[in-house]
Amino acid sequence: MLISENFCLKPFTTLGVEVRTRQFIVVASVSDLKELFAEGFLKTKPRLILGRGSNILFTDHFGGLILSCQIRGKEVVEETDDHLLLKVNSGEYWPSLVDEMVEKGYGGIENLCLIPGKVGAAPIQNIGAYGVEVKDVIESLEAFDMTTGELKTFNREECAFGYRSSVFKTREKGRYFIVSVTFRLSKKPKLNLSYAPLKEIFKNRNEKEITVKEVSEAIKKIRNAKLPDPDKLKNAGSFFKNPVVPKELADKIRKKYPEMPYYLQNGNKVKLAAGWLIEQCGWKGKREGDVGVYDKQALILVNYGEASGKDILQFSRKINASVIRKFGVKLEREVIVI
Ligand code: EPU
Repeated sequence: MLISENFCLKPFTTLGVEVRTRQFIVVASVSDLKELFAEGFLKTKPRLILGRGSNILFTDHFGGLILSCQIRGKEVVEETDDHLLLKVNSGEYWPSLVDEMVEKGYGGIENLCLIPGKVGAAPIQNIGAYGVEVKDVIESLEAFDMTTGELKTFNREECAFGYRSSVFKTREKGRYFIVSVTFRLSKKPKLNLSYAPLKEIFKNRNEKEITVKEVSEAIKKIRNAKLPDPDKLKNAGSFFKNPVVPKELADKIRKKYPEMPYYLQNGNKVKLAAGWLIEQCGWKGKREGDVGVYDKQALILVNYGEASGKDILQFSRKINASVIRKFGVKLEREVIVI
């Protein structure tokens, strides 16, 4: 296995900041992981796994070991008249997987098209969009325990999925390298058209006649109108999570702003739209040097050129401070800051 020293990470994250890592190793198989474990490499601190780097911001050079997940391949593990269990290795590219399944007419992940990232990262933050979260279709996953060198299978419950969260981001953070994910896809798809703009597009259609391909195409249009393609404009998707606040606070804000998006949750809580809050604070389309807020969706921070990780972090803190000042709501980052 090749160990690269003092390696530049710029092309390995979608925010594209100029940073280096002390060591960089490509992991292409489980046997690579076993070898790294046997040789003691996995004890290196700090150590970080990088997929497509679409949800990460480096604010400085990394003084440890980066493992680049490039385990490729997939296989059907079960097929019936109704469904397909598909085991996909973690280094496959998520948007290509979605497109391939949509072409075949298999349902379940069509709403999650164009989300940049690798398959192994999808369960870690339970990616979600347009009414669907990846947890809805995950049957199980296999992960390599970097502390014991053993493989472990997690079923859906054991993954403890939440909004943009799982056990791999909380209790077991940093311990496992996800090797493969098994998805349950449907041959008789039940579409999810709950997202309002999607409902609107298909309002005059008989739901039974709508195909997963049509849904995916519609979502691509909605997405492309609001979200920048990281291959063209450097960004990491939503920079913040949508905050979940006590209902009393949400009601207080709504009194003053009756048009505010408001999603009632269990337990007397309300999810607010961070993009809306940020826009109200006047940030949409604003730019300072090479960092800015995307002009079509205020949740997205953009690196227009050579912004450093520190520039981006500092800019995001200013946004957060103004949202706290105006609404009394603290935003939590969705992007992982290193
Ligand atoms: N809004 C504004 N101004 C903005 C952005 C949004 O007023 O600049 C309002 C919209 O008009 C709408 C509400 O806020 O009423 C929600 O906006 P939108 O439907 O665009 O979705 P979001 O809540 O901003 C979330 C996810 C996205 C996902 C979309 C669609 C999070 C943090 N973000 O955004 O996920 O694509 O829903 O389902 O949950 C990502 O995680 O990287 C990501 C892009």
